[in-house]
Amino acid sequence: MRILGIETSCDETAAAVVEDGTRIRSNIVASQVEIHARYGGIVPEIASRQHLLCVIPILQKALTEAGVDINSLAAIAVTNGPGLAGSLLVGVNLAKSLALAYDLPLIGVNHLEGHIYANWIEEEGKNGLPEFPLLCLIVSGGHTDLVLMEDHGQYRQLGRTRDDAAGEAFDKVARILGLGYPGGPVIERVAKGALSPFRLPRAWLAGNDDFSFSGLKTAVFQMTRDQGITGESATSQMAVEIAAGFQEAVVDVLVTKTVGVARRYSVKQILLAGGVAANDELRQTMIRCSSLPVLIPSPVLCTDNAAMIAACGYFRLKAGKISGWDMDVKPGLKLV
Ligand code: KG4
Ligand code: ZN
Repeated sequence: MRILGIETSCDETAAAVVEDGTRIRSNIVASQVEIHARYGGIVPEIASRQHLLCVIPILQKALTEAGVDINSLAAIAVTNGPGLAGSLLVGVNLAKSLALAYDLPLIGVNHLEGHIYANWIEEEGKNGLPEFPLLCLIVSGGHTDLVLMEDHGQYRQLGRTRDDAAGEAFDKVARILGLGYPGGPVIERVAKGALSPFRLPRAWLAGNDDFSFSGLKTAVFQMTRDQGITGESATSQMAVEIAAGFQEAVVDVLVTKTVGVARRYSVKQILLAGGVAANDELRQTMIRCSSLPVLIPSPVLCTDNAAMIAACGYFRLKAGKISGWDMDVKPGLKLV
């Protein structure tokens, strides 16, 4: 059963064809990162206009690469939230038009649920398929959530960030250090192999399973000001050491809390999902510190893509969860 996935929630225009929710036939992503980098962050109107320009060529490329005709698809799955309203509208309108024209079921997918379902996609070297109950750590630009998943589509939120999301903290700290945008990949790159003499603060929020990263960001800001690092200091040794100390603190908190919660809820596995799960330091540390199997999609399936939306769409279709023509974009859509 082949599903076409469409993803335009933020600054990536993506289309993919996935078979039976697990095998990728095509997975095309057009990133707008270079356009937004000029502004130091995402400009919503530019993002939606860019989606309009790219979405049809990306769709055509995904279908051609998969070698499938639209008529042979089982359904069209599309992200309808959370995300930027103007960006979401582009994908949702295209999905509705295709579903109407080709008489196919339309499936609205929660972007965060999509990130989780990237773990069902078969990949070389993958450590098996997910087994319930499992604990999922979703770490993206807008979210840091600990979610207990007891079955397909059944979620219980156990923890969340109280302020900045992990990815947001990476982006803001990179900006403070003058390292550019997006912050996650650049911090990972400069921090690789760097030893930090700085021990940055960790917000443990004793007694509950939430996260907080804004204090850490403020600590970086103060340290940077005290050391006289400015926006032009991208290559300074001090900026690199602060970046390494920051990454170490984020990874320490994410891993320690996730492993502790997994033990308390007696889950079978830990899953990582979302853009920050592409971070090698986080991936390796989680695997090293967990006595349970840890499943993590390959880095390209952690950051925004449409294969994860098609994978999730397959399981929703199997559960009979089809959307109506009144399906709307929901910028603030929640998982639970
Ligand atoms: O999931 P995603 O692609 O988009 C959202 O749904 O938000 O996540 C984007 C976030 C950005 O904040 C980006 O800086 C971060 O993921 N990110 C990383 C890495 N790659 C992307 N953070 C740390 N290390 C990385 N390698
Ligand atoms: Zn995402």
